[in-house]
Amino acid sequence: KDKVTIHTLKRLKQAGQKICMVTAYDATFAHILDQAGADVLLVGDSLGMVFQGHDSTLPVTMDQMVYHCSAVSRGARRSHIVGDLPFMSYQTSVETAVRNAGRLVAEGGVGSVKLEGGAEFADAVAAITRASIPVMGHLGLTPQSVHKMGGYVVQGKDEQTAVKILQDALAIERAGAYALVLEGVPSELAQQVTQRLSIPVIGIGAGVHCDGQVLVCYDLLGMNPDFKPKFVKRYADMHGTITGAASAFFSEIRAGAFPDEDHSFHSKTLRLVASQT
Ligand code: KIV
Ligand code: NA
Repeated sequence: KDKVTIHTLKRLKQAGQKICMVTAYDATFAHILDQAGADVLLVGDSLGMVFQGHDSTLPVTMDQMVYHCSAVSRGARRSHIVGDLPFMSYQTSVETAVRNAGRLVAEGGVGSVKLEGGAEFADAVAAITRASIPVMGHLGLTPQSVHKMGGYVVQGKDEQTAVKILQDALAIERAGAYALVLEGVPSELAQQVTQRLSIPVIGIGAGVHCDGQVLVCYDLLGMNPDFKPKFVKRYADMHGTITGAASAFFSEIRAGAFPDEDHSFHSKTLRLVASQT
């Protein structure tokens, strides 16, 4: 199968075919999700929460993103790989933004980068794009703005904030973004944005009218039974599967049933005698 590029994604929107995106943080997951048919693998800064155990994405560093991006790019074949620019890697200056986007491409091996924000980051989007690095925008519930938002709350529920999100989306498109993630907004707003933009809009908690959908892989796989927000659908109970497998392993160790003959090595020539040891 041909490698997915930003042009493939635009063609999918034009053809009315949905874009399938999922997060990945390591080579093994990247390989599985790529083979399963993902169009886009996102090395999301959500790894700060699901991989590192922080309660926000804010502590994630550039070095950590480069490390995870390089692992994911080695694991995937067909999918287009997007690397998240972490908190404070693009907000301080346009020059810093270009430099850090360049690191995700040159050291991390990704095909494009994603950053959160609207019109106020249009100059960063334009400058990174000018450096031949495609940029995916991210609007609505933007986790790096958790303190400004006052929590992880649905955005654009009233006319004024909805119009702001639509204007930000248009500004990001004008600045050269090739796609947009729209997170945590009413379905009605996401539908409007998707219709108004010519670039693909990928939703998460943004209803069915977007050009594609994305979820955090650990969420759709049901890895954490305590995390069940409205927008997540669980397609597996990996928490149960892993718990079952691991506890079976531990039971067999304790019973002396593992390893059995099938999982042990033997030698026909060894004649170890007590005097030699
Ligand atoms: O970091 C992430 O996983 C994301 C997606 C949820 C869009 O930004
Ligand atoms: Na992110």
